[in-house]
Amino acid sequence: MLELHSIYKSFGGNQVLRDVSFALDNKTPITGLIGPNGSGKSTLFHVVMGFYSQDKGRVLFNGQHLDTLPPEKRCHSGLSCTFQDSRMLTFMTVLENLTAIPTPQHGESLVKSFFSPLLVHRQEKEIQEKARDILELLSLSSLADAPAGSLSYGQRKLLEIGRVMMTDPQLVLLDEPTAGINPTLIQSLVKILETLVQRGMRFFLVEHNMPLVSQLCDRVLVLDAGELIFDGCATAAKKDKNVIQAYLGSDGYVEA
Ligand SMILES: Nc1ncnc2c1ncn2[C@@H]1O[C@H](COP(=O)(O)OP(=O)(O)OP(=O)(O)O)[C@@H](O)[C@H]1O
Ligand SMILES: [Mg+2]
Repeated sequence: MLELHSIYKSFGGNQVLRDVSFALDNKTPITGLIGPNGSGKSTLFHVVMGFYSQDKGRVLFNGQHLDTLPPEKRCHSGLSCTFQDSRMLTFMTVLENLTAIPTPQHGESLVKSFFSPLLVHRQEKEIQEKARDILELLSLSSLADAPAGSLSYGQRKLLEIGRVMMTDPQLVLLDEPTAGINPTLIQSLVKILETLVQRGMRFFLVEHNMPLVSQLCDRVLVLDAGELIFDGCATAAKKDKNVIQAYLGSDGYVEA
């Protein structure tokens, strides 16, 4: 599905990613990406999504080279992401934040609206229904008409996932989806991810909450100072001496 070949990225003299290579396949529902603060996890996601261009190396998705594609085209190839900081539009309603996401249907609308307004009307109805289904899954239906700016921090994180779901992605990159949200909401999020996995969606998850990584991820990749130092199951990661060393040398932790 996703392939990274020898990715390098630096900011000025700061070498942030060094020779990072791995492949994610469709068989692993949720892959974790962990590592101490500043190890390059978010940078890696930004490179995959096209928000940063790498200095060297290649990124492929389903065999297609992504390197020359802008971020919006990468989304239409089945790849999507949420950000460490929320990007929703606070002045729009919760529902509008979903219906405003460009979907493949939207892309056809301009041409079709000229020839077939009825078809466009039907597509708009489908988009509304899809958005309402997503709000139902996220338990946000009662807030559909509320301004998105009035949502709690945790609810905003859920809405971010809803925005991603509108594009029917095959693989979703989630950067710290549980940061700053309460344990009850974390468990809701786990259920939502499990439902989406059953529907065929796959996830690549950056997360500092180690028990959650162990619970959710079948495979874990560990970055340390921009280098991939481990690739395997969560249980083995916790015992790996390089991983332990990386965390001991930082402010992070490894679950006992
Ligand atoms: N746009 C940028 N310009 C300059 N330096 C950057 C930029 N983005 C990231 N960096 C640097 O790259 C390094 C890795 O940052 P990154 O955000 O990828 O780490 P991270 O693993 O996501 O950390 P955290 O767990 O704290 O979110 C840091 O030294 C950071 O300062
Ligand atoms: Mg980060």
